[in-house]
Amino acid sequence: MAESPIRIERKGAVGVLTINRPKVLNALDVPTIKEFARAWGLLEDDAAVRAIVVTGAGERAFVAGGDIADLNSRRGIAHWQEFAELIHRVFRRVELCDKPTIGAVQGYALGGGTELLLALDLRILAEGAVLGLPEITLGLFPGAGGTQRLIRQIALCKAKELMFTGDRIDAQRAVAIGLANAVVPKDKLMDEALALAARIAEKSPLVLKLLKRTLNAGADMAMDAALAHEQAMISLVLDSEDAHEGCAAFLEKRKPVFTGR
Ligand code: CAA
Repeated sequence: MAESPIRIERKGAVGVLTINRPKVLNALDVPTIKEFARAWGLLEDDAAVRAIVVTGAGERAFVAGGDIADLNSRRGIAHWQEFAELIHRVFRRVELCDKPTIGAVQGYALGGGTELLLALDLRILAEGAVLGLPEITLGLFPGAGGTQRLIRQIALCKAKELMFTGDRIDAQRAVAIGLANAVVPKDKLMDEALALAARIAEKSPLVLKLLKRTLNAGADMAMDAALAHEQAMISLVLDSEDAHEGCAAFLEKRKPVFTGR
């Protein structure tokens, strides 16, 4: 039987999803994106999973992009129907996931690989990781949500430079322009990503969910609406058992135990 293009593991409260097509540097073809969505749903629905780490199999790549052979295999409206719509839907679901998400990147994260990172909350890079949006060199432009996410996440002139040139950037530069959180030694990548995920997973899942909704929705709202939305969200949080637990634990000088209620 062929190996699944996606592997799922549980490490304590952290779900790990590995894109597993190392022979083609974990490029995303339609079956892989569909399997990714199925696996994502399992982690989303599992209440014991409080944070999700996404990584790529093998040492050479996180994801080297959309599968170029797959992209080139169709003409006309089928592009929109069979690929663009699917990858948009799945990356949007990733972006709006109520659980915190982390990309753990070794090697290449190009094209759709960088676009997937843009839909994840935090990004940890191994030394030697290479990011970029080379679509322009293929006669394309980033079309898995990347144009819009990038201009909302980093300075517009840097975003345009990346997309106009298709240049690859190293891990240090990715952090310097605000595209990733940190660079860590190669052999520490998963330990660091999992430790970060575990630290976040100790926090209240309810509060994280409402915080993430506040940030994601607020970023696209006018300031007055965003502040009103934040106020509504914090009112829900203030009334939660976890808020009372957190405050009581502080006053009682103990560690809080958050349940998500
Ligand atoms: N799609 C399909 N196959 C890919 C691929 C991709 N994006 N990236 C790499 N591969 C395949 C190669 O064809 C090669 O297969 P064979 O062994 O059968 O020849 C194998 O993976 C290993 O790749 P290379 O031999 O090219 O390895 P390298 O070390 O010489 O180069 C690389 C590595 C610089 C990442 C190079 O593979 C490369 O430039 N890949 C394409 C990167 C790219 O342009 N990504 C954007 C794709 S478009 C997109 O992403 C749009 C979207 O999602 C909507």
